[in-house]
Amino acid sequence: MAEPYYITTAIAYPNGKPHIGHAYEAIAADVIARFQRQQGRDVRFQTGTDEHGLKMAQKARELGVTPSQLCDEMSQYFIDMCDTLHVSYDVFQRTTAPRHHAASQELWRRMAANGDLYLDRYEGWYSVRDEAYYEASEVVEGEGGIKLSPQGTPVEWTVEESWFFRLSRYQDKLLALLRDQPGFLQPESRRNEVIRFIEGGLRDLSVSRTSFDWGVKVPESHNHVMYVWVDALTNYLTGLGFPEDTTEMAKFWPADLHLIGKDIVRFHAVYWPAFLMSAGLPLPKCVFGHGFLLHRGEKMSKSLGNVVDPLELVARFGVDSLRYFLMREVSFGQDGSYSAEAIVTRCNAELANSFGNLAQRVLSQIFKNLDGRLPEQGELTELDNELGRSLHQAMHGTVPEAMAGLNFSVAIEEWMSQVFACNQFVDSQAPWALKKQGELARMETVLAVLFQCIRNLAIAIRPIIPTSADKLLDQMGIPVGERDQAALLDATWYARLTASGFRLGQPVGVFPRLELPVTAEH
Ligand code: MF3
Repeated sequence: MAEPYYITTAIAYPNGKPHIGHAYEAIAADVIARFQRQQGRDVRFQTGTDEHGLKMAQKARELGVTPSQLCDEMSQYFIDMCDTLHVSYDVFQRTTAPRHHAASQELWRRMAANGDLYLDRYEGWYSVRDEAYYEASEVVEGEGGIKLSPQGTPVEWTVEESWFFRLSRYQDKLLALLRDQPGFLQPESRRNEVIRFIEGGLRDLSVSRTSFDWGVKVPESHNHVMYVWVDALTNYLTGLGFPEDTTEMAKFWPADLHLIGKDIVRFHAVYWPAFLMSAGLPLPKCVFGHGFLLHRGEKMSKSLGNVVDPLELVARFGVDSLRYFLMREVSFGQDGSYSAEAIVTRCNAELANSFGNLAQRVLSQIFKNLDGRLPEQGELTELDNELGRSLHQAMHGTVPEAMAGLNFSVAIEEWMSQVFACNQFVDSQAPWALKKQGELARMETVLAVLFQCIRNLAIAIRPIIPTSADKLLDQMGIPVGERDQAALLDATWYARLTASGFRLGQPVGVFPRLELPVTAEH
């Protein structure tokens, strides 16, 4: 039976439309999900929206709508974004769903039953923008004496009755988790940060609010709503049917990977494992904190006017161009920079001019010279074998290894170097010249070798650019069920396809050259 793989993204606050940062995370998670499916894993992929808390309540008030109207309207933008980006999620979990309330309350009850919740009074700083509490020692003074969190967001002094979670009890266990299971939190630099934070001493955490009611009600304490992060994190369980004993819970929990931004690592690598330990549930295997996307090296902000709507980029350049660019350009885990020019330059050089050109050259020669009949492989030369070996090594070694390690840019670089090798092979073997010289058998061999290489390259890059890869594979007559890692290992496919009498039609390019509008406001 296929081994299960459960991957989640963070769930976004739908207090505005999705921006490129949301698109980036959704795309990266989708690439991983598609890669794992291609490896034969039984993948569960969940995303959603984080709809409670003061930030949402305040936004609704500001707009003169109810919080639930705001959530219904705005969460749809996130669903639409996923669909436009071809994000193949299985579950889109909204936290206002009744079953999510039930799941959060059950988690709460289990933490209470373990003696980890007590009633007290919170007095301290709170940032609505981050939905986070800060220590007095972390708060800094900004312009005009305004108090700011270390993230630069405004904080307000808050005094209210609150339930507390005994986080301090978990200090040693959390330290052991981070130290003894280095894979739990990645990349490495994030792990060191969190270890230092825990070593600094963990205080009990305020986990409920009484000054507003837009949240999940605390069981048996109905003037309290849960702190939004307690319910938000629970979404990872809700989508599997928790607290019911579902087959999904049995199969997919603990999660293999929580993919999140580096700014919310503390919630996922400290609070979340502590809640789970308290409730007696297994811990996720890995939390990965990716970096931020900068626009021309600058942080995006409304005041700079450089907030880019990811759907506009898709409209201009196409989904796969954006997906390819983001996965290729940014070293995953680190911050990365993007601009319209960079997208155009990268995609034209690598997709249009290299891979696209390779496919177009080879397929059109088969179409023209052989009337679309697939070429006979015949006898292979040492050079042919060398190309085959190098490709095989990349498709089964370096590329999937880098993908599995979430080193997308490395995987694509390895893939590109095989594309280059194939293009060089076309140049050196010059099948058009072979035709002129009447060396038809050799011409067929060269084209047969290349046809097979192109099929394998398209399969390997499918998780990144699924639509374009499939368009190419469709033209090449590759069955939909033969586009996974197992198909790459199948030595019989070319003979079978040839024997089936399949004929290539006039090849259609799948990687258009992108252009920058002359007066572009990038
Ligand atoms: N809404 C939070 C944010 O955007 C992320 C919540 S992720 C979850 O910062 F773990 F709580 F689900």
